[in-house]
Amino acid sequence: MAVLGFSKMSVSFGLVVGLALVGLVMSARFEELYQPSWAMDHFAYEGDVLRLKLDNYSGAGFSSKSKYMFGKVTIQIKLVEGDSAGTVTAFYMSSDGPNHNEFDFEFLGNTTGEPYLVQTNLYVNGVGNREQRLGLWFDPTKDFHSYSVLWNHRQVVFLVNETPIRVHTNLEHRGIPYPKDQPMGVYSSIWNADDWATQGGRVKTDWSHAPFVASYRNFDIDACECPGTAAAADNARRCSGGERRYWWDEPMVSELSLHQSHQLMWVRAKHMIYDYCTDTTRFPVTPAECVHHRH
Ligand SMILES: *[C@@H]1O[C@H](CO)[C@@H](O)[C@H](O)[C@H]1NC(C)=O
Repeated sequence: MAVLGFSKMSVSFGLVVGLALVGLVMSARFEELYQPSWAMDHFAYEGDVLRLKLDNYSGAGFSSKSKYMFGKVTIQIKLVEGDSAGTVTAFYMSSDGPNHNEFDFEFLGNTTGEPYLVQTNLYVNGVGNREQRLGLWFDPTKDFHSYSVLWNHRQVVFLVNETPIRVHTNLEHRGIPYPKDQPMGVYSSIWNADDWATQGGRVKTDWSHAPFVASYRNFDIDACECPGTAAAADNARRCSGGERRYWWDEPMVSELSLHQSHQLMWVRAKHMIYDYCTDTTRFPVTPAECVHHRH
């Protein structure tokens, strides 16, 4: 009995170690930069791809191990195929605390064959309400595409396959606060948001189509790391160009290139569905940064 028990145990132990090793080796970059933050049992590693599942028990999410100030964060995502109505997959950076800053990509699912929407938002000192929505010029569920946030002292740029879809410019010289003092973590998650996500909340999640799976690969963070133990002033000095000059602070990336501004104009003209800046019902007085942003 004891021998049987032992061999059974070692077989399953070997299997578990083997699977864990495959996961570890293939997703080395993920493991290096990120950790699951909830629902580890809704994670699956397959080769260099990480899959997060949403079912009627749980969604799932991960977060970066470190916090960062300035730089560029990129991830490749293949969004939920088929029926994704009611689901939201988010990729965002956020600082902690009541006056936090946040840069959000939220991918709003849809019924089979209907287009995903990308909602971006930006919180500065705890205040958000800066939503923009756009359609994409490709089907984001058919393949992996890269989504990035570039953050430097002059601008926050949201990019899709390196095409800028949104720019938030530093207008501090006009008295408008700009996010520059708080280290930010990087996060992603998938969850049920059928109270608002799809067609204004009219279409609910069809759980008979669960699990809803978002796939990730090519995790990249090229940013100034802020050790958790460092004092805020030390982080600010290290990451704000005091000690060395980072590529994201070069003049080349302090504003969009001519080509990039043309790309942004094209995105806004062809794919923009909603812009808080022009929502006069919601904002009878145009938000200050919209008056100065001219795109
Ligand atoms: C879903 O599809 C409908 C119909 O094409 C469209 O109006 C809507 O913007 C799409 N996206 C979301 C998230 O509702």
